[in-house]
Amino acid sequence: MRRRAVLGAGAAALGAAGIGWSLLTPKLPGKLLHSRAPLPRPFEARLAIPAVLAGEEIVQREADLAILPGLTTRAWTYNGSFPGPTVITRSGRAATVTHRNQLPEPVVVHLHGGHTPAGSDGYPIDQIMPLPPAAAHHYMATMAGDTTVGARTYRYPMQQRAATLWYHDHRMGFTGPAVYRGLAGFHLVRDDEEDALPLPRGERELPLMITDRAFEEDGSFRYPLGDADYMNGVLGDVILVNGRPWPVHEVDPARYRLRLLNASNARRYRLQFDPQPPGGDAFVQIGSDGGLLTRPIGHDTLELAPAERFDVVVDFARWKPGTKVRLIDRDGGDVMRFDVTGPKTDDPSRVPPVLSTSAEPLPPPKRSRTFRFGQGRDGTWRINDLTYQPGRALARPRLGEVEHWRFVTDFHHPIHLHLNHFQVVSRNANEIGEYDKGWKDTVDLRASEAVEIAVRFTDYTGTFMLHCHNLEHEDMAMMADFVVEP
Ligand code: C2O
Ligand code: CU
Repeated sequence: MRRRAVLGAGAAALGAAGIGWSLLTPKLPGKLLHSRAPLPRPFEARLAIPAVLAGEEIVQREADLAILPGLTTRAWTYNGSFPGPTVITRSGRAATVTHRNQLPEPVVVHLHGGHTPAGSDGYPIDQIMPLPPAAAHHYMATMAGDTTVGARTYRYPMQQRAATLWYHDHRMGFTGPAVYRGLAGFHLVRDDEEDALPLPRGERELPLMITDRAFEEDGSFRYPLGDADYMNGVLGDVILVNGRPWPVHEVDPARYRLRLLNASNARRYRLQFDPQPPGGDAFVQIGSDGGLLTRPIGHDTLELAPAERFDVVVDFARWKPGTKVRLIDRDGGDVMRFDVTGPKTDDPSRVPPVLSTSAEPLPPPKRSRTFRFGQGRDGTWRINDLTYQPGRALARPRLGEVEHWRFVTDFHHPIHLHLNHFQVVSRNANEIGEYDKGWKDTVDLRASEAVEIAVRFTDYTGTFMLHCHNLEHEDMAMMADFVVEP
């Protein structure tokens, strides 16, 4: 049986009919890719916290990173690190970030969770061409977007509340391999409402980007570009937290704020501590993709689909000093470890019973629409039975109006909306799930589920995206445009 090599080939290259993939669709998203390099031992690397971006410029370039012992990993990076530098901006204060492309291929930058005008939203064909111009010319021929050569300045008005956002590559058909090679970083928005709360801060506020990767023998990232066996998603056999394999972090017996981001291409996690603290509810969730919840929610387990963020407070004083607390994935083993050290220290932090007042339900919708996420007979991933085509809008909501969007799946798909955060209003015609609370921009759907969201389209007209955030599905055309009309 010959399979067409389509993964990462770009939606535009798809077309001819292949095999009836749906017959072969497994129950879990993704397929495990084994490393050829010897695997590192867990809990030998130290957790690293990405540097905060100084200034407003990021250079995208190759860099050799020390991830595995004794080997280097040639990565695509923002400013030479993976994750890239953390961008910190202030709600209500406009910011710009200029990206220079010194990589050998075109790039696109999307601020995930950003409430951003269309021109700076990282539309997949609005590419930054590589230098020198000769290289750019090679790619220009195939592109019709709003492209630039060498650099581009993205403008972020930041008319949005405090939240954990992230930025990553979004190039048409090649987002999976580009993110896998290292193009992802945090972008934190802060505001007065959040600053006024006595939450853990400083060294006790940790952004944690969780990814899975496989490695070649020489230490480079192993990605099955062009291998249709991995069209359900690529799963690596090494878990990296902030780019380090199964790292360890020493913590005081005190409260910590963990801004958890699943930046994996396809892997979803069911995170839990081992041992669990007496009394359970180890994770006190304070925020979701779109910022603070109204009230904190305790969880024993946290389920994170690709691109989702959970902002949680964990009180390490609940374990005895000296305890090595493993953060595990109930489906896949170790993630990282927190070693609780030292005697009890001063901890001025608290989690107040009311965190925010800005989560009132949206008014009734002006209209409802249904989007079916499924696989075509040719193996492409589709929305409403269409593969992605730039410029073809599947919806034209009006500025300022509330709509209900119903997502229906065949298979597991984490579904992401650009421009506005939304509220989940029902799951399978029932109550929303434990992880659906607050303002979201990505909602996790399992096989054969239906989720309804409420969203209001605000501030910016133009073309935005709706897509699956399993990056292999996204690259295989599970995207759609929607146009916000005046
Ligand atoms: Cu995080 Cu359109 O993507
Ligand atoms: Cu999907």
